[in-house]
Parts: sequence; C-alpha cells; structure tokens
Amino acid sequence: MSVIDQNLSMDHTNPQSMSIGDQLRERIQSRTARVGIVGLGYVGLPLVKAVHDAGYPVIGFDVDQSKIEMLNASKSYLKHLGDELVNEISASDRFTASSDEAVLADADIVILCVPTPLGEHREPDLSYVTGSAEIVGRSLRAGQLVILESTTYPGTTRDEMVPILQKAANDRSLGLEVGEDFFVAYSPEREDPGREGMATSMIPKIVGGVDPLSGELATEFYRSCIENIHPVSSAEVGEAAKILENVYRAVNIALVNELKVVFDRMGIDIWEVIEAAKTKPFGFQAFYPGPGLGGHCIPIDPFYLTWKAKAVGLETRFIELAGEINQDMPSHVVRRVMESLNDDTKSLRESSILIIGLAYKPNVDDVRESPAAEILKLLSEHGADVSYHDPHIPTFPTMRRYEYDLDSVDLNPDTIASADCVLIVTDHDAVNWELIGQHARLVVDTRNAMSVTDPSTRKARVVKA
Ligand SMILES: NC(=O)c1ccc[n+]([C@@H]2O[C@H](COP(=O)([O-])OP(=O)(O)OC[C@H]3O[C@@H](n4cnc5c(N)ncnc54)[C@H](O)[C@@H]3O)[C@@H](O)[C@H]2O)c1
Repeated sequence: MSVIDQNLSMDHTNPQSMSIGDQLRERIQSRTARVGIVGLGYVGLPLVKAVHDAGYPVIGFDVDQSKIEMLNASKSYLKHLGDELVNEISASDRFTASSDEAVLADADIVILCVPTPLGEHREPDLSYVTGSAEIVGRSLRAGQLVILESTTYPGTTRDEMVPILQKAANDRSLGLEVGEDFFVAYSPEREDPGREGMATSMIPKIVGGVDPLSGELATEFYRSCIENIHPVSSAEVGEAAKILENVYRAVNIALVNELKVVFDRMGIDIWEVIEAAKTKPFGFQAFYPGPGLGGHCIPIDPFYLTWKAKAVGLETRFIELAGEINQDMPSHVVRRVMESLNDDTKSLRESSILIIGLAYKPNVDDVRESPAAEILKLLSEHGADVSYHDPHIPTFPTMRRYEYDLDSVDLNPDTIASADCVLIVTDHDAVNWELIGQHARLVVDTRNAMSVTDPSTRKARVVKA
C-alpha cells in the first residue's frame, strides 16, 4: 500500500485492515465518497442532480468557464432542465463547480461526461476523452474510481483511457495498478433530453469494469443513486450495448424514411401505415420518419463502430446504408418543397419559406447536427428567402458548418400568410398548428404535425414530406 493510500484511509476506524477497494466501498455506503463530474453538459448536469440527490458531495468540473459562472450564479444554460435543478444544486453546500482541474484531486469517484464527436473524415474524435483522462491522471491517487460515460466504440475505456491513467501514475512513481489501487469502469449514459417524467435516476444503468473489482465498485456506486442497475462482464460489453441501442435507432429510422419515399410515390401515407402496423401487440416497434437525423448521438455514434469494425477488417453495411438514407432526407424535403411550389406555379427561387423548428427534436433548444440547418442551407442555395420560427431558439446559433444572421420570427397570421410555404421541421409542443393551418397557403410537413388540426377550419394545402 502506498503512502497516499494510507492518507486516504484516515477517516476510518481501522483503515489498515481494509483493502483500498473496501475503503472506497465504505465511502460509497456512507455517502461520504466525493464524486467529481467532468463535463457539465446535457449528460453531466442531470447526473450531478442524481448523484447529489443520493446524498453525495459533488464536485462539478468543466473547461468551459462560462458554464461554471452560470452554475455558480444559479443560472441554467440548458433550458429543458429548468431553473429548479440549477437553483437546487447551486444552493447546496454539497455542490461546488469549478474550471480548475485541481478540484478533482478531492474526488473519490470521477465520472467523465465529455463529447465524443466525429472528425472531418467521420473518424472518432476521442480528443475530449483522452484530454479529460489526462486531466484526471494529473491528480490520480489510490482508491479513485474513474468511470467513462461518453458514448464510444468497444475498447475505448480499456485501450485508450486506462493507459493514460496508468502512465500518469507511473510518471509520478505512485506505484498504482489498475484494478488494485485505482479502478476504471464504463457506464453508458442513456439520457433523452426533453423527455418528460424520466429523470436520470429512473433510467436503468449498464455498468462494466475493466476488471471485476472495478465493475463491482462502479455497480455499488450507481446502485446508490440509480433505481435499476444492469451489471455486465466488461467495459466492452457496456460500450457495445450503447452502440447497439443507437445503431438500432439509426437503422430503423432509415427504414421508415426509405419506406416513406416509396409509399409516397404510391400515394400511401406512411403515418397511417405505421399507426396500423403498431396495433400488432408483438414483433413490431414503431419508428417515425422525419427530415433527417439530428442530435449528438444517433447521426454520430454508429460511425464509431464502423471505424472500429474497419480496424478489425470488417464492414458495417447496415450502418453505412442507414447513414446514406438518413443523410439524404434534407435533400428529399427540399425536393418536396420545390415540387409543391411548382404545383402552385411558383419556383423555389425567390419564394419565401418559413421553417418551423430549428432544434433537432421537439421541446429542446439543441441544434447539434439538426437537419433544419442543412435544409435552410439548401433552400438558401436555391435562392429561396428563408426565415424561421423556433420558440426555444431566438437567434440562429453559431454552428460548426452553418452561419446565418437570423432571428426567430414571431408566429402570427401575417408572418404565416406572407410565406409561400411553411415548412415544418420540428414539432415543438409550443407551436400553434391551428394558426398555421388557418393562415398558411402551403404547408410541407415532415412530422405529421398538422394531423392534430381541425380539417374544417384548415385553409392550407398540406403536403407530407
Ligand atoms: N446529449 C444526449 O442526449 C446524450 C445522451 C446519451 C449519451 N450522450 C453522450 O454523452 C457524452 C456527452 O454528451 P453531452 O451531450 O453531455 O455533451 P455536451 O457538449 O452537452 O457536454 C460536454 C461538456 O464537456 C465539457 N468538456 C469538454 N472537454 C472537457 C474536459 N477535458 N474537461 C472537462 N470538461 C470538458 C464541455 O465544455 C461541455 O460542457 C457524449 O459522448 C454523448 O454522445 C449524450
């Protein structure tokens, strides 16, 4: 046992007789383990609440100083979470937030919730994972449990994260070994921002360690703050399970997107078809078509596996095909707008198009990978005069690939009636569909949002796309 281990055991009655793992276990059971959460975004911030609610002292760490300042001033930067969550945690004496990595030295358990985007050539960009692992490594000590929650390909935790932590320990001659002196596990996050009635603590958690003791300790920790835990035999199984969930969604969404185009050509409404098919009580799960995939997960994560599969000499044909179909959806939507305007003897050039919804899904203000941005770009390139309305996004945000100087327009009879086409991209609950139906000339609807409107008062011609 190193000197640092002995320091760690100071608060225990007979620490010398306890193994390092048992000391951490005891801290988990007594809720005295300090939990550091690295990355306070869509995943990290709700996790802070779940861990804090379970009674642990929580240290939030993010490299983005503006987030820390907002948290410390009790201001929420994630609208869908509401102010209550931030008010509650920032007022607590069991929560601190900082952009100073030194605070992580105090943590017994460190959980990484950092981004895992794709690089320019659709290759995994693990720089946030490796960067944050390096940060953790600089204050690694005996008895720490480090858990990765970011979505990634199987093998990341063991092959990318552990070597960084082990090297950090070796460089500082700490004499620490993974699985004996410090512990490493993977537990995928399954957060669904904007979903009502589904707090982080209610979403079952998969947990796998890089060795049995790491897995056990991580399972014990999550059991104390999450209702249902599903331990798996390794970190790799956890990583693969999360990728399976997201590939499953990407492939099924692509399937209905393809069928939408086929059925549409046959004059059949895919939405009615899905309503009919889902009456089957077994063997069918409904997925819905849309204007293309968005968000941080579904358009990205499957390609982590594609890259890893190539590394072992295999192809992921389903993933590639689903990607191709889903990526073509914005162009399909724009074609439908063109055809529909054509039926009104108008061309897309110089037509005014009012896009409803910029966010990638309803009731959130998240535009990451949103198909609305690509649709807006394509429409503008064709010479259309494009405006948008999104109740959650007052100004078009700065995006990696898109930059538009636009503000959300008010949704009123004048703005609706002055558009040659109202194009529904996101079906936020806060949008008044009746108003659109009563005042628009043409509505192109990618979400079947107009189905809730009263046909007897609807004046708009509605085209599904
Ligand atoms: N958003 C979702 O709905 C969702 C759902 C399930 C899983 N995930 C996965 O969870 C992970 C995090 O996603 P997110 O949506 O929370 O991302 P996010 O961008 O909202 O938050 C990530 C945070 O990490 C911070 N960060 C980056 N590098 C850091 C570093 N070295 N040290 C400390 N902080 C750092 C960023 O400043 C940011 O605040 C991703 O792998 C994602 O695929 C996301």
